Amino acid sequence: MAKQIIKIDVKAKKADIARVKTDVAAIGVFSDVKKSASLDSLDAKLAGAISRLKKIGDFKAAAGSSIFLYTHGKIAAERLLLIGLGEKKQADSETFRRAAAKAAFEAVNIKAKTLAIFLNDEKSNADFEKLGQTLAEGIHFGGYRYDEFVTQSSDGRSGVLSATIASDSQSAVTKLSKGIKIGQIIAKAQNFARTLCNRPGNILYPSEFAAAARKIAGAVKGLSCTIYDDKKLAAKKIGGLNAVGRGATHKPRLIILKYAPKGKKKTEPLALVGKAITFDSGGISLKPASDMHEMKYDMTGGAAVLMTMEIAARLKLPVALYGIICAAENRPDGGSYLPGDIITTYSGKTVEILNTDAEGRIVLCDGIHLAKTLKCKTIIDLATLTGACVVALGKHKAGLFSNNEKLAKSIEQAAKDSGEPVWSLPYGQEYADEIKGKIADMKNIGSKWGGACSAAAFLGEFAKPAVWAHLDIAPTMDASEPIKKYAEPGSIGFGVRLLTEFLRSQK
Ligand code: BES
Ligand code: ZN
Ligand code: ZN
Repeated sequence: MAKQIIKIDVKAKKADIARVKTDVAAIGVFSDVKKSASLDSLDAKLAGAISRLKKIGDFKAAAGSSIFLYTHGKIAAERLLLIGLGEKKQADSETFRRAAAKAAFEAVNIKAKTLAIFLNDEKSNADFEKLGQTLAEGIHFGGYRYDEFVTQSSDGRSGVLSATIASDSQSAVTKLSKGIKIGQIIAKAQNFARTLCNRPGNILYPSEFAAAARKIAGAVKGLSCTIYDDKKLAAKKIGGLNAVGRGATHKPRLIILKYAPKGKKKTEPLALVGKAITFDSGGISLKPASDMHEMKYDMTGGAAVLMTMEIAARLKLPVALYGIICAAENRPDGGSYLPGDIITTYSGKTVEILNTDAEGRIVLCDGIHLAKTLKCKTIIDLATLTGACVVALGKHKAGLFSNNEKLAKSIEQAAKDSGEPVWSLPYGQEYADEIKGKIADMKNIGSKWGGACSAAAFLGEFAKPAVWAHLDIAPTMDASEPIKKYAEPGSIGFGVRLLTEFLRSQK
């Protein structure tokens, strides 16, 4: 297997846009900025080609738009790519991340091997370190392609993208470089999360996920990894994860990653818990056939947890962490759990299964309970948990639920900083009442309405008394239509940047 996945590298350099030899030179353009020294001088060198384009209306610099210009040797770059940034007053860091993604996306589409992004009239007091990080994240995000199983392709992708962020100020370049280093660590990990999610169920099943986790933990200092197989799960009475996974061809795994920051005095560990259903067929409560293949993305939460753990160790963040990944395949089989079954979860609470397709909460409640036994006082779980959350929010934002306002606020701030948006949804007793059991302590589904909220309430019962937040990332498990304009369809590795920025904000 495994052909190529494009190798991307980013660096910063002091350079003049007219002189850099590159397949593509890219520059951002605001729609409402009339005078720009760098654009005007570029326009003059290109005999007015840019102003002409604007005049005839082919390029209005709307956010998300772009256009190639061929330079005919007038500048050193073969092609100039103008990237629309929209209105300056509306621009935030996500505007620049997307613009960089668009540049890399278009460059890879034309099989360019080199891309130079030029900073245009940046103020000298701008936060260049942050900008370097943001642009590096964008370049990796837009340049990524998932093609490891394509053996017969006629379009012959270049396989590499060497990107430069160019500025005319040396002090800006120094700061950009610092940010790029951080951005590349985050973005490479995020792209690997995308690859894990894009891999289908016959390739990436629980033991393979566990092998990937072990390999990462082995390669990064400060990270360790323990794996429980199905026998161990049964022996330790981790009954939820075992019930969901036991019938499948590929048996379940519980993956426990630990990161201990060096040289810091012992801090209370924080737990990240991820749902990793490597394929969700629904089980005996089988899903309809249409779109079922998309359920290979049902391990997005687990992938985000794994790759965030790697980033935390690589960036040497000063927070003690556990990453708990509940990996199982949900499929019908002679040994599968059945509707009506009553299972005993790791916590000891019993649950009546009314629908085997509501399996995420059943594996996660064990992961959350494990976090408590590991003395974690703060727990964040990520899961592609409910279709109802997609109905509520569309594919644009993840649902955020929490029993603690301070935690929710800092996750919302991290969402802004990372460009991975969340929206708060309700957590409360009325939803918990819906999943109270009659013949067991609880049941695994609530009423017909508000399914994202009753699912969150179910998890909240297991998280008590910890400070807890739950991210229902079903809406963002793959690229939305707007994202497909600057990135490959398929997984977007949602959660990696969000969790990373959250952890970076914890001191
Ligand atoms: N993995 C699905 C949720 C999902 C649906 C994620 C669509 C992304 C897109 C989850 O395991 C599931 O099947 N949930 C059920 C719950 C229901 C049976 C109460 C759902 O949402 O339909
Ligand atoms: Zn399901
Ligand atoms: Zn699922």
